[in-house]
Amino acid sequence: MIGIIGGTGLSEPSFLAQAATRQVLTPFAEGEVQIFTGRMHGVELAFLPRHGKGHKVPPHRINYRANLWALHHIGVRSVIGVNAVGGIHAEMGPGRIAVPEQIIDYSWGREHTFFADGLDTVTHIDFTSPYDEALRQLLIASAGAQGVWPQGVYACSQGPRLETAAEVARLRRDGCDMIGMTGMPEAALARELGLSYACLAVSVNWAAGLTEEIITMESIGEVLRSGMGTVLGIIERAVARHAETREGLA
Ligand code: HPA
Repeated sequence: MIGIIGGTGLSEPSFLAQAATRQVLTPFAEGEVQIFTGRMHGVELAFLPRHGKGHKVPPHRINYRANLWALHHIGVRSVIGVNAVGGIHAEMGPGRIAVPEQIIDYSWGREHTFFADGLDTVTHIDFTSPYDEALRQLLIASAGAQGVWPQGVYACSQGPRLETAAEVARLRRDGCDMIGMTGMPEAALARELGLSYACLAVSVNWAAGLTEEIITMESIGEVLRSGMGTVLGIIERAVARHAETREGLA
């Protein structure tokens, strides 16, 4: 099954036909993880809004382990993560969508691995290429007329505050092209579970210090609404293409 993890701006399952709700108990949380299942082009999808019901859980408090474990538990094998980002590279202005190729993780203090307790042996996963290349190519091929930026380095910050101008200047020197708060440890946990995972990153603002403007939730919200429409178009085409060819997704 294909899983979609929605971020800011994508939290309702209205794009799924015959949507149903599943509550999944996991070893990582007292409460259940809520997942919506439903169909798109006859293909069964699972949708998990990572900030929870009503968009209340901030990036550093998201239970990434419970979310990924629950998706895997109900049979998801490929995951498309949708993440709002601030643009750093000139190609990543507000409204632009990227399918990044690489990650640098600046987050801290998050539960970031399944391989910590009760191990028979210490385990290190290969994470040279953090995203699944076949899934990335499927998303790029499904981008439609507008196209997506088919590359880029995603920087994951801790949040929930936005960055300082100096932090963004450092990120640029580090080679980062976009900055978001939720890309990690999600991608690494997906790899630990053997899921194929790729990201659709939607730029909703220029990162701090790159324009004169102050970043407000209102201005982010406007770009987000149209950006998520484009993202859903890409997902629809990817699922339709997959239904025909079985390419790119498990
Ligand atoms: N920084 C970090 N995360 C973000 C931003 C940003 O500028 N925009 C959207 N998510």
